[in-house]
Amino acid sequence: MPDLIPVLDKDAIARKVDEVARQISSDYRETDLVIIGVLKGAFIFMADLIRRLASNRVAIDFIQLSSYGADSKTTGRIGLLKDFEIDIKDKHVLIVEDILDSGLTLAYLKRHLNTYGPRSVKTCVLIDKYERRQADVQAEYVCHTVREGFLVGYGLDYAEAYRNLPGIFNLNF
Ligand code: IMP
Ligand code: MG
Repeated sequence: MPDLIPVLDKDAIARKVDEVARQISSDYRETDLVIIGVLKGAFIFMADLIRRLASNRVAIDFIQLSSYGADSKTTGRIGLLKDFEIDIKDKHVLIVEDILDSGLTLAYLKRHLNTYGPRSVKTCVLIDKYERRQADVQAEYVCHTVREGFLVGYGLDYAEAYRNLPGIFNLNF
């Protein structure tokens, strides 16, 4: 069994999500916002985030991509498993993603969304893990930054396990 080293407990996560939500809420105060969550990893984070945007006008949808399989690093090939359906033309869009790692997923997503003519596309990530970055992309909103490691819990998985943990842990293989 691999070891789980605690990174953020549920209260620490809540404080970080609060902070980022406050920023998003204020930045999109006057405008409609379409939030597109990246399945499956972002589902818990997104559920917590959007309930802190109760005073904003928010529509949501989901997209699902594949690049990992059961491995712990990117294959570099990204497939579209489920596209979003909501109309984003001339809309402000916020991508909500669990982890920004190589950046290949986010680069692909931004290219994909931009073909639909949105007014703006920004990104909110739970974790920015910067050591393995390959694509020149950044997230405008980041809850927590780490250099390296493989994180699980709070929606994040390793081979579909651990998504149900309330905290975030580093998986020591
Ligand atoms: P990227 O394309 O390399 O930036 O990979 C982003 C995706 O890889 C994320 O959406 C996650 O699903 C997955 N991923 C990258 N690092 C981790 C990790 O530490 N734990 C769990 N999933 C990860
Ligand atoms: Mg993901």
